[in-house]
Amino acid sequence: MAQETYSPGLEGVIATITEISYLDVDHGQILVRGYDLIELARHLSYVPVAYLVIHGHLPNDEELAAFDQRLREDAVVPQEVYQLFQLMPKTTAVMDAQRTAISFLASYEDPAMLRTPTPENDIAMGTRLLARMPVITANAYRVLHDQPVVEPDPSLGFSENFLYMITGQKPDETARRIFDLTLTCYIEHEMPNSTFAARVIASTLSDLYGAVTGATASLKGPLHGGANEAVAHMLLDILEQGGADVAERYILDRLARKERIMGFGHRVYMKKYDPRAALMKDFIPELAKRHPQGEELYRIYQIVEETMHREKGLFPNADYPVGLIYYLLGIPIDLDTPIFLVARTAGLVAHVAEQHAHNRLFRPRVRYEGPRDLHPTQVTVH
Ligand code: SDX
Repeated sequence: MAQETYSPGLEGVIATITEISYLDVDHGQILVRGYDLIELARHLSYVPVAYLVIHGHLPNDEELAAFDQRLREDAVVPQEVYQLFQLMPKTTAVMDAQRTAISFLASYEDPAMLRTPTPENDIAMGTRLLARMPVITANAYRVLHDQPVVEPDPSLGFSENFLYMITGQKPDETARRIFDLTLTCYIEHEMPNSTFAARVIASTLSDLYGAVTGATASLKGPLHGGANEAVAHMLLDILEQGGADVAERYILDRLARKERIMGFGHRVYMKKYDPRAALMKDFIPELAKRHPQGEELYRIYQIVEETMHREKGLFPNADYPVGLIYYLLGIPIDLDTPIFLVARTAGLVAHVAEQHAHNRLFRPRVRYEGPRDLHPTQVTVH
C-alpha cells in the first residue's frame, strides 16, 4: 500500500506532472510553457498566448493567422443557445447560465469525437469552445437582462469582440489593451481547484465539455474565481458608506468579525504578492481618470491594500485589481467571474489534453474515523 499521507485541502501535495505551468514562488515567476507569464502579458496579446498554452509553443505567423481565423470563424453559436438563455429565470447567475451553455454545446459536437478523448480531439473541440466562450458569456448576461443579443463581429479580434458583445460598443485602444492584458493574466495558473476539477473528470476519460463544466462549477466559488465579483461589491460598498475616509475602519471591523476580505491571500503565494496583481494594478490609474467614481475608488483600493498588509500581512491576488478594472471598464459585476472562465478556457483545454495524453485515474484514499463493528438489528419495515 502506498505510504498514507493526509494534507487538508491537499495543501502542498503534488497532484500531477505537467509541462504546462508552474508557480515558481521563490523566483516570483509564473512559468507558462517555459515563459514568464508577466513577460508574455507585457509583450503579447491573449490569442498568441492561448496558442502557446494549448499547443506548447509560440505560433509562427502562419500558425497565428490560422488560429486567429479559427477563433473568428467558430465564434458563431447555434441560435438554440440564446433560446436556452430565454428559458432561464431572470434570477439565474450568469456563471450558471455559462455552465449550462457549455454543457449544451457538447451536444453539437460529433458524438464520436466526444467518445474519443485524444489530445488532438480535445484541442479541436477546445479551440471551438474557446471561440464560443465570449459569445455565450456576453449574451447570457444580455438575454438574462432583456438586452438584445450582440452577435460576434468577425472583423474584430478576440478581446475587442468580447468587450464589444458585453458593452454593445467597440472599445477604444486603451480599454481593449487593458482588458486583453487581464485575459492573459487569467489564462493559466498551475493547479487551482478548477483546473484540478477538470483533470479529475478528464482522468475517467470523460470528455472536454464535462471537464470544463466541472471547472466552471468550481471557479464560481467565492474562495476561488468568485472573489473578483466580491472585490467590486466591497469597494462600492465602502464608497457608498463614505468612501476613502471609512475604508480602513470598514476593513478593521470585518477582520474583527473574522471575515475574509476577498481578493487577498493565496494558497501558494501565501504572504507574497501575486505577480499578476502587481502587473495589473499599474493600469488602474489610467482607467480611474476616465470614470466619475474612479479616483475615489482607487483611493479606497489603496487604503484597503495597505490595511490588509499591515493587519494580516496579506497581499492582493489577481482577483483584487480585476474587480476594480472591470468595473472601471463598464463591465457588469456579474460578468467578472464568467470572464475569468473565458480566459482560463485555454489553460483548461491544455490540461484536459495533457491528462488524456498521460492518463492515470485520480482515485485518492481516506482516513476513516467513523464507527466500526455495528450490525443491523432486525429492522421492522412499517
Ligand atoms: C484565485 O489557486 C489559484 O491559483 C487560484 C487563482 C487562479 O488563478 O486560479 O489564483 C485565482 O482563486 C485567487 C484567490 C481568490 N480568493 C480570494 O481572494 C478569497 C479570499 N482568500 C482566502 O479565502 C484565502 O486566502 C484563500 C482561499 C485564497 C487561500 O486560503 P488558504 O490557503 O486555505 O489559507 P487559510 O484559509 O488557511 O488562511 C490562512 C490564514 C488564516 O488566518 P488564521 O485563521 O490562521 O488566523 O490567513 C487568513 C486566514 O484567516 N486569511 C485571510 C484571508 N486569506 C487568508 N484573512 C482575511 N482575509 C483573507 N482574504
